[in-house]
Parts: sequence; C-alpha cells; structure tokens
Amino acid sequence: NAPYSNDLKQSIRTIPDYPKPGILFRDITTLLGDARAFRRAVDELVQPVAGTKIDKVAGIEARGFILGGAVAHQLSAGFVPIRKKGKLPHKTASIAYSLEYGVDEMEVHSDAIHAGERVIIIDDLIATGGTAEGAVKLLKSIGANVVAACFVIDLPDLGGAKKIEALGVPVRTLMTFDGH
Ligand code: PRP
Ligand code: MG
Repeated sequence: NAPYSNDLKQSIRTIPDYPKPGILFRDITTLLGDARAFRRAVDELVQPVAGTKIDKVAGIEARGFILGGAVAHQLSAGFVPIRKKGKLPHKTASIAYSLEYGVDEMEVHSDAIHAGERVIIIDDLIATGGTAEGAVKLLKSIGANVVAACFVIDLPDLGGAKKIEALGVPVRTLMTFDGH
C-alpha cells in the first residue's frame, strides 16, 4: 500500500444542490476519512513552507480546525483558532468579514501571537476569499507575520486566491474546481 493517495481530487465528494439549489458542495469529509489522502493533503499543504520556521498555524473555524491541527503537529508549530464571534473566552481582537450574502465577525485571542511570529493560515476551501481576507487582517492586527495561506480547494472563478495574493500573502492550493 502506497503511503499516499495518487489522486487527491478523486477523494473530494461533490453534492449537488447543497446547501441550496444550484450549489455544488465540495465535501472534504471523504478526503479526511481516507488515511492516504489525508496524509498527502497535509504534506502538500505545507510544501512551500517546508524547511522554513513557522511559529503558529491559524485555522479558520470550522473545517480549517481539522486540517490546521494536523498541519501544526506536522510542522511542530503552535495552533491558533480563529473563531466565529463570541466563542473565545479571553480578550479578543475581532474583524468583520464579507460572506457571499452579508457579513459576519471572526475573533482571535489578542495574545495568541507574539509580535513578528511567522504564521500560516489554513482552511479547507477558498471561494470569494472574504473569510481568508478577514483572517489575514485579523492576524496582522495582533502582530503576526502572515507568510502563507493554504487551502485544499480553490474555486478560481470566484477570485479569492488573487485577493489574498494582492494583500502580499502567497497562496497555496491543492486543486481547483471550475464554477461556483
Ligand atoms: C466555507 C469554507 C471557507 C469559506 C470560504 O466556510 O470552509 O471557510 O466558506 O468562502 P469564501 O472564500 O467565499 O469566504 P463556511 O463559512 O461555510 O463555514 P464552516 O467552515 O464553519 O462550515
Ligand atoms: Mg469554513
């Protein structure tokens, strides 16, 4: 048995009309449940920063927690949760970010990063980039040096990766799906 899945994209399940009619939902639970695919995804996500010092991995609630925890362990880095408003118990910094429809707020503990620490952001998917843009700005506001943002799935037609690169943060993605 090879240690890796040969085709990571095959491990993503597509669900039509979820959560709304017309949406093709890209489901990573099938990747997570496949030991070889999960290992390959984690190894490939961090490939651009392998050999550089990463102090913290910031995972975006909720699906970014699963991958981000594994990535942090792999890099021997700390893990920092970026959570939806009201979930973190200590003093927080917060930022409003745009969703496909409307806005929401995300938070991080104010003392989660020491000034200048090298941080990578992990999430399962980048679409419009609104979520990741909020995460970049939030982490910078508490002193992070955000050195990369890494996602399993990119929906390039929605322009998110370009938006994050324009903030000066290199983007790593493992596969693309056309359309929304
Ligand atoms: C999804 C996905 C990303 C975000 C990407 O999360 O997991 O975090 O949307 O969209 P964007 O690039 O257009 O901002 P969702 O908000 O559905 O929450 P969840 O991870 O808690 O399920
Ligand atoms: Mg999410």
